[in-house]
Amino acid sequence: MNIILLGAPGAGKGTQATRISEKFGLPHISTGDIFRDNIKRGTEIGLLAKSYTDKGQLVPDEVTCKIVEERLKAPDCKDGYLLDGFPRNLFQAQELDKFSKVDAVLNIDVDLSLLMARLCGRRVCKNCGESYHVDFLGGKADCERCGGELYQRKDDNEETVGNRLRVYNEQTAPLIEYYTKKGVLRSVNGVGDIEEVFARICEVLR
Ligand code: AP5
Ligand code: MG
Ligand code: ZN
Repeated sequence: MNIILLGAPGAGKGTQATRISEKFGLPHISTGDIFRDNIKRGTEIGLLAKSYTDKGQLVPDEVTCKIVEERLKAPDCKDGYLLDGFPRNLFQAQELDKFSKVDAVLNIDVDLSLLMARLCGRRVCKNCGESYHVDFLGGKADCERCGGELYQRKDDNEETVGNRLRVYNEQTAPLIEYYTKKGVLRSVNGVGDIEEVFARICEVLR
């Protein structure tokens, strides 16, 4: 099954993707993670991407679409994939329709007023990518899953989060209508315990 995870920054796409990917055996493909990996390795794509991700703007479509098109050709995607953070505007959605078929779009719905606090308090594992929130870490500095070191993403500050939420409203939110019209959109309430939200997602995917 080819699944897209849609949702505002901080809605819990990455958090739920880890769980969905484990349970359904689908490769988790996050364009944000791909860009951060390229930035860390100092590649050409990384150098370009950094100037956009640091400001909370979208990396140009041409670059992003090509990365995803290539990634979906990998053998691990032949029985399905879980896309997190792509598509993010109408152009990307139309491009995706040209090179793949989307079976389901899971829209994780969270009131935008909750997202600033979720993102500014997020800590991510350097090793396995799991997300945590400072409020629930109780002072711990290591990942519960793998013991890796936790860090704060460079774009998780008030100013950049503000931009990311604006970009979401203007460019990504219209995809809800796009996929509703195609009959593939499933919305899930993303407020509540992480496991509770995951249970709702499993119910929808069944
Ligand atoms: P990307 O990495 O995709 O960031 P994003 O969309 O802003 O989403 P986040 O990763 O911030 O949020 P999430 O929904 O994954 O939340 P999480 O699960 O971590 O993109 C980064 C940048 O890359 C973009 O700004 C852009 O520049 C570029 N980019 C990426 N894709 C692109 C594309 N297609 N085109 C162009 N440019 C692109 O959870 C967040 C926090 O909330 C955590 O602290 C977590 O512990 C907590 N949390 C999760 N669930 C719950 C819950 N149920 N209750 C309470 N807290 C919760
Ligand atoms: Mg994410
Ligand atoms: Zn970890």
